[in-house]
Amino acid sequence: MLQFFKYIFKLQFLVILLAIVAGIYYPQILERLQTNFLGQKVDVTFESSQQHAPIEVLFTKEELAKFNGENGTPLYLALLGRVYDVTRGAKHYGSGCEYNFFVGRDASVSFITGEFDTYDEEKADDVLSLKPAELLGLHNWQNFYEKDYEFKGKLIGRFYDEQGQLTKYHHKYLALLEHAKEAKSVQEQLRVKYPDCNIEWSADKGSHVWCTKNSGGKERNWIGYPRKLFEVGSNNFRCACIRKEDLETTEVMLKPYDDCEPYAQECYYNVD
Ligand code: HEM
Repeated sequence: MLQFFKYIFKLQFLVILLAIVAGIYYPQILERLQTNFLGQKVDVTFESSQQHAPIEVLFTKEELAKFNGENGTPLYLALLGRVYDVTRGAKHYGSGCEYNFFVGRDASVSFITGEFDTYDEEKADDVLSLKPAELLGLHNWQNFYEKDYEFKGKLIGRFYDEQGQLTKYHHKYLALLEHAKEAKSVQEQLRVKYPDCNIEWSADKGSHVWCTKNSGGKERNWIGYPRKLFEVGSNNFRCACIRKEDLETTEVMLKPYDDCEPYAQECYYNVD
């Protein structure tokens, strides 16, 4: 019996001692837990704070460049500051393969320009001057990598700071992306209200545009009249079918086709 109490007392003492040591060294233990084998601090904010989120690492440009498939290293690439392991796609990204250019760096802009020859570190991930549709394209690429490849961490630089937090630049990018999404949604709504015309071209007659109850792929119970519908602040236009009651609308900029009757359902014109 005495032995039993001695044993319990020892065990209790050990537990208390462990708790004191853990309390004193907590920050170091945490630091250790947040540090990966490369000695890099693991970021526990943002996405990684979600349950079951993969452990993520903060990479410097130099560290990322080492993941280039040489000497058995995996193949990593970064897009908008997020790093993915693309080793599974080695037939695309491996040495000598078509998309090897993207490996070991963030060349986000090249995903849009298709320019894979020259890498300018200053410009390669500078995406703010891209057009709205291009930003949406980039966003689609990011969705692709998030879905098809393993996310490994964040690249310290334009999009993430040394603590792995979003930079001001990143916030600007997100605001522009939001704007692009809204603009696209407005465009889609306008395409329902003012559907595209049918269009064909021939050498002798030039361009021929006409409206039907399903032109522009939008089934409806009206036909409409062909008009040039201009993009805001641009000379670009598309042919849209407009209902009679909308012909004077100010919601969009409309112009009639030259040499075409106001209520004609088809028009011919030549492009210089
Ligand atoms: C802006 C230009 C382009 C970019 C940034 C680009 C990028 C890429 C990337 C990153 C991949 C690998 C996707 C993966 O990990 O599975 C890929 C695959 C591929 N790309 Fe491109 N590409 C471009 C243009 C083109 C063009 C013009 C063609 C065709 C003429 C093309 C044909 C292909 C094909 C066939 C695949 C392989 C699909 C598969 O096997 O799964 N790409 N592209």
